[in-house]
Amino acid sequence: MSAKQTLLRTLPVDLDPARLPKHVAVIMDGNGRWAQGRGLPRIVGHQRGVDALKDLLRCCDDWGIEALTAYAFSTENWGRPLEEVDFLMTLFERVLRQQLREMMEENVRIRFVGNLETLPPSLRAEIDRAMEETVHNTGIQFTVATNYGGRQEIVEACRAIAEQVKRGELDPAAIDRELFARHLYTVELDDPDLLIRTSGEMRISNFLLWQVAYAELYVTDTLWPEFDREAFRQALLSYQQRDRRFGKVASR
Ligand code: FPP
Repeated sequence: MSAKQTLLRTLPVDLDPARLPKHVAVIMDGNGRWAQGRGLPRIVGHQRGVDALKDLLRCCDDWGIEALTAYAFSTENWGRPLEEVDFLMTLFERVLRQQLREMMEENVRIRFVGNLETLPPSLRAEIDRAMEETVHNTGIQFTVATNYGGRQEIVEACRAIAEQVKRGELDPAAIDRELFARHLYTVELDDPDLLIRTSGEMRISNFLLWQVAYAELYVTDTLWPEFDREAFRQALLSYQQRDRRFGKVASR
């Protein structure tokens, strides 16, 4: 079945295919609370969180959304108990190893953004392998922010630009928004149109600070492991009711 046929067959009838976001970003919050609420260890919540993310990726692909970016681990998450951090690192590695074949079959292009150098070497090896093997895939662009911090990303961009100025390769007057954005981890992606956060917290939490300047924000009380197609439909319905003005006057 062609991508267009899948879209027409599976997209809920109340969603307008012409007004879907091209790029959706998600802050997957509430795994720990979901598990604790059921008397389970927090790590079970993260395992279920992976299932929710896989479902969302497939749903975005079915519905013709071009890019999905997920916040998997922030630079602040190292402050969690050692056992939980170790579990998450091992989980990321295992999921990558297990899912690579399916991602190839489904033509997914995967990227990781963040400070990848300080991740455990065995995880880095899986990340490098997954990014290399999927580099020519032309389907949905799936980006995983791991050891990611928005302020750190901006500082690193500033440093790289300053180095070019110092070497005499760049005139400070030539620094504009486009040049700056080309020094961010997300250089190959358009900015997100919609940022979803689960579990009711009204925060950006250092995620894509530059890139979400004009994203529509959607916060739901649903905890991440329970964020399913129906919850995503609700987010998209809300998005389609917004009038995106980008600082200009109303368009309708
Ligand atoms: C936030 O819930 C969730 C995380 C810090 C981890 C999210 C990671 C995944 C779902 C796995 C993604 C995996 C790959 C390979 C892409 P929380 O623990 O902060 O929940 P709480 O606020 O209820 O404590």
